[in-house]
Amino acid sequence: MSLIIDNLTVRLYTDFKKKEFFNVADSVSFSVQNGEIIAVVGESGSGKSFLGLSLMRLNPPYISEISSGSILISDSGGFEKVDIVKLKENQLSGVRGRLISMIFQDPNVSLNPVIKIGEQIVEAILAHKKMKKKDACDIAIHYLELMRIDGKARFNSYPHELSGGMRQRVMIAMAMVLEPAVLVADEPTTALDVKTSLQVLALIEKMRFEKNVSVLFITHDLSIARNISDKTLVFYAGQIMEYGLTEDIINNPAHPYSISLTKSVPGLSKDYAPRERLFVIPGSLSQGDFKSGKCRFYNRCFKKTKECLNEIPLLKLSSGRFARCVNII
Ligand SMILES: Nc1ncnc2c1ncn2[C@@H]1O[C@H](COP(=O)(O)OP(=O)(O)OP(=O)(O)O)[C@@H](O)[C@H]1O
Ligand code: SF4
Ligand SMILES: [Mg+2]
Repeated sequence: MSLIIDNLTVRLYTDFKKKEFFNVADSVSFSVQNGEIIAVVGESGSGKSFLGLSLMRLNPPYISEISSGSILISDSGGFEKVDIVKLKENQLSGVRGRLISMIFQDPNVSLNPVIKIGEQIVEAILAHKKMKKKDACDIAIHYLELMRIDGKARFNSYPHELSGGMRQRVMIAMAMVLEPAVLVADEPTTALDVKTSLQVLALIEKMRFEKNVSVLFITHDLSIARNISDKTLVFYAGQIMEYGLTEDIINNPAHPYSISLTKSVPGLSKDYAPRERLFVIPGSLSQGDFKSGKCRFYNRCFKKTKECLNEIPLLKLSSGRFARCVNII
């Protein structure tokens, strides 16, 4: 097992002085095995990025904190095991990039605007591996070229000299260059054209097959989740709503939120009929849903009953399949 998240709760303060907060990730538990890809799907604002950032302990300081739980990471040989939550700040740099790496939703977050992109990748390599600078440069160029960037020509470019899509690809090269045990990919293809998107997805697949990398793939796009992931975790207002094999969740969703999501994507639901209007989930996700004390999907659910007006636990439906709903037949 490469990544085990147990009961992870992350607070987001709405007023730090008054200690007012809500749990942007609430008692989240799941695990990712070596070489497995797990998709985290859910609509905008559901807390997917916060979850991903928290796994690197990069959740924004001062406004958020991990209040409980553990994040256990081991390398693919099982020689090294760490609990990210317990690490001291100065120990984190030895783990980030090497054991766990992240492709950020916003490429500008991870690229230093005043350092040439080739140098940034080389610095990342040399921070963790003892080798000659020339060899690190060759690796950097190789990874840029895997991302369809002319590595030699662009090595000395500054981030602002590249297009948004190119910056995204540089960041992906940087996240992958150390071949981490766990890769958190937060909407890695959103800013890319179709051809490059497919290339990035193929590279992630290659890394998982050849290097046994475990991937947490964050996306709001269920079609991408279907194509790339083994398992899917449906996330809403900071909680896992449903979890299981991706093909089961797409072909036979159990939770009303998963059912609604699959019906809102053309061609995904087995009930989909061309030319029929797509389903639109009524209402929208609000901050109040994160702290409601009832089912977090209650306000928008087509199946709600008075039994839903309590906190709902994650229930086991079958081996490896869970859902947080009291009205699943
Ligand atoms: N820096 C921040 N300061 C305050 N609140 C934030 C901050 N970043 C996110 N939030 C809030 O935290 C919640 C979860 O946000 P998050 O970015 O994790 O959602 P997401 O699922 O990644 O959405 P998207 O699909 O749009 O990227 C939202 O309610 C959002 O408004
Ligand atoms: S617990 Fe109730 S409100 Fe929540 S998803 Fe199930 S039926 Fe809907
Ligand atoms: Mg996000």
